[in-house]
Amino acid sequence: TELDFSLEKIEKGGFEHFMLKEIFEQPEVMRDVMRGRVRIEEGRIVLGGIEDYLDRLKQAKRIVICACGTSWHAGLIGEYLIEDFARIPVEVDYASEFRYRNPIIGPDDVVIVISQSGETADTLAALRAAKERGAMVMGICNVVGSTIPRETMCGIYTHAGPEVGVASTKAFTAQVIVLYMLALALSKGRTISHDEMRLNLKELSQVPGHAAKILELDAQIQTIAESFKDARNFLYLGRGYNFPVALEGALKLKEISYIHAEGYPAAEMKHGPIALIDEDMPVIFIATRDSSYNKILSNIEEVRSRKGRVIAIASEGDTEVARLAEHVIYIPQASAQIMPLLTVIPLQLLSYHIAALRGCNVDRPRNLAKSVTVE
Ligand code: G6P
Repeated sequence: TELDFSLEKIEKGGFEHFMLKEIFEQPEVMRDVMRGRVRIEEGRIVLGGIEDYLDRLKQAKRIVICACGTSWHAGLIGEYLIEDFARIPVEVDYASEFRYRNPIIGPDDVVIVISQSGETADTLAALRAAKERGAMVMGICNVVGSTIPRETMCGIYTHAGPEVGVASTKAFTAQVIVLYMLALALSKGRTISHDEMRLNLKELSQVPGHAAKILELDAQIQTIAESFKDARNFLYLGRGYNFPVALEGALKLKEISYIHAEGYPAAEMKHGPIALIDEDMPVIFIATRDSSYNKILSNIEEVRSRKGRVIAIASEGDTEVARLAEHVIYIPQASAQIMPLLTVIPLQLLSYHIAALRGCNVDRPRNLAKSVTVE
């Protein structure tokens, strides 16, 4: 009806689509996620929803993360963060695979389920399977009072606010911030010093400002989208913390633009995807400055020598990448652990603009649902 239409227009707050609005909300959402939880001066993290379970979490022999879709990508980043900071072994499983393969799980294990909606059928079933086997179950969810948080023993809400666009954006960055805070909380008094803690918290608190800066690149990203909107395939490559971001970038593009896209760890390129590269294959490299930077530069050269068209996400001030790539999107420099929170934003915008330019129904892509409550 006419009334619904105008209501929707108001809800979109001047943006063309909910997805774009939600991408732009990220700096604010990031602050909301951290509010009251990140105490830089005290060098500690306060996570009320898991406080009573923190010791048990720290003593976990193993953590298993179960999720679907974008939440599964956040889980992969969580694995890197928890292993890196807290030195607790982590496995990440698709909820659908976990539940059907008679998983080896017991009382010494902690199972963390991640779900924006808190209603995904497979994730809920994975949670129940873990509980039956005596594991401690924890949730990271966005929708307050949804089924998953009601069935977990403890959890952390992402507080990203309602997400309407089917393709998840702000909920993803909120999940990653929660996982970062969790990893640090699990490290406290064990694997990192007080000074390191304060340094990491300080870096985390700068992320919303960096995100706001990246959003200023929207016009540049739209121009890039114009020259690639008719591509039939895309390859996304990243290493380390940026590998899950490559997967997420590819998923975002598939979901809303219906262009085939694949994410890969850049080093795996030589084991298959390199065969696909020619002048019609755009390759997105997430090539920020970290310990694998030089390796990724040689991966870019390999693509260039096969005439692949390269778009690079690079650290501010990097001139070497500019020499090799057709387009460079510069983002603020930060430590490797922080990077996924920044590098994902230009990829969200790129997918959005490509889909919008192709006239796709960005907020309601065909065949997809915001929350999949069937198996
Ligand atoms: C659906 C949505 C995705 C989402 C996935 C998991 O496939 O379209 O955007 O990532 O479900 O949803 P959840 O609510 O469990 O995070």
